[in-house]
Amino acid sequence: MEQLTDGHGRAIQDLRVSVTDRCNFRCQYCMPAEGIPWLEREQILTYEEIARVVGVLAAMGVHDVRLTGGEPLIRRDLPRLVAMLTSLGDVREVSITTNGFLLERDATALVEAGIARFNVSVDSLQRDRFYRLTRRDALAQVLRGLEELARHPDAHPIKINAVALRGFTEDEVPAFVELARETAYEVRFIEFMPLDGSHEWSQEQVLTGAELHALVHAVHPLDPEPREPSATARVYRFADGRGRIGFINPVSEPFCSDCNRIRLTADGHLRTCLFSLRETDLRTPLRERASDAELDEIIRRAVWRKELKHRIGEPGFVQPDRTMSAIGG
Ligand code: 5AD
Ligand code: SF4
Repeated sequence: MEQLTDGHGRAIQDLRVSVTDRCNFRCQYCMPAEGIPWLEREQILTYEEIARVVGVLAAMGVHDVRLTGGEPLIRRDLPRLVAMLTSLGDVREVSITTNGFLLERDATALVEAGIARFNVSVDSLQRDRFYRLTRRDALAQVLRGLEELARHPDAHPIKINAVALRGFTEDEVPAFVELARETAYEVRFIEFMPLDGSHEWSQEQVLTGAELHALVHAVHPLDPEPREPSATARVYRFADGRGRIGFINPVSEPFCSDCNRIRLTADGHLRTCLFSLRETDLRTPLRERASDAELDEIIRRAVWRKELKHRIGEPGFVQPDRTMSAIGG
C-alpha cells in the first residue's frame, strides 16, 4: 500500500498514541495541582479501537508506535494493548513514554508484551526538587522502577528525559551528567514547550539545548554523534568514551522539516502536529462502522495538510487548548 505522506513530501512513519489523559503526577509545566477536567470513559478509545486505527496506519507505512498519556501505565491492563499492537503484522516497534511511577509493578509485563524501548521522564534527581516540580514525593519510587526495568536486557537502552526549565535545571546538570556517565541510561534534556496547563509559557523560561550543552561541555567535553533521520535528539558522546547525552531542542532548533510523526489522542482525534489548532475526529467514523478504506481516506486527507512547522516565537503564535497530557508527548 502507498506510504502515508503529507503535502510537504514527508513520509509519516511514527504514531504517538495517548491511551489516557489522566496522570498520577501534576508536573508544574504540564498540569495544575487540581488536575484538569478528565475525559469520560465513553469518550476514550477502547483497546480494540486503538488497535484498529494502528492497524490501518501501519498498513500505510506508519510502523513505529509510541504509547503515551497522561501517564500510560495508569490505564488498566496496558500490557494487553501492547500485546495486541505488537502482534499486528505491519507494526515494527512499540515503545512507551512513562513517568516511571508504576514501572516497579509493570516493567516485566510490559517487556514481555513486547515494548521495545522505554523513555522515562525524570526532571530532578533531588527528592525535594522532584517533589516541587511534580507535586509528588515520588523520586525514590521512580528510581526503583528504573532499576526494575534495567534488569531486563531487552529494555535497553533506557532513555531518561528531563524537561529543562531556566532557573531550575541548571542545578540538575551535574547529577544528570553523572547518571549518563556512570549508568547505562541515556539522558536527554527537552526544551520546555508552550503546552502547559496554565498557558504561562514564555521564551525566558526555556533553557536551551545550546546552553545546557555548554554547561556540560565545560566540565566534560562532548563529541557529536551523527543525527539519525527524523530523530528529535541531538546526541553527543563524552569525549573520554563514558556514556552519551542528548538534547531535544524543539524551540531553539526546530526539527519540523523532517518530522515523520502524527498523534492519536485518547479520545480518538488525529493530530498532525503537537501545535495543531485543528484535529480530525476518527472516533465517530470508527463507531459508525467505517470501512478500512474509508478510514484510510480520512487519514490521508488529514495528513496531507500536516503543518509545515510550528510557529513558536513568531507573532500570532496561538497555543493549542490541549496540554501535553491531553495530546501525548
Ligand atoms: N514542554 C516540554 N516537554 C513536556 N512534557 C510535558 N509537558 C511538556 C512541555 N510543556 C514532557 C514530559 C514527558 C513527555 C511526555 O513530555 O515531561 O517527558
Ligand atoms: Fe503527568 Fe507527564 Fe504531565 Fe507530568 S508531564 S503531569 S507526568 S502527563
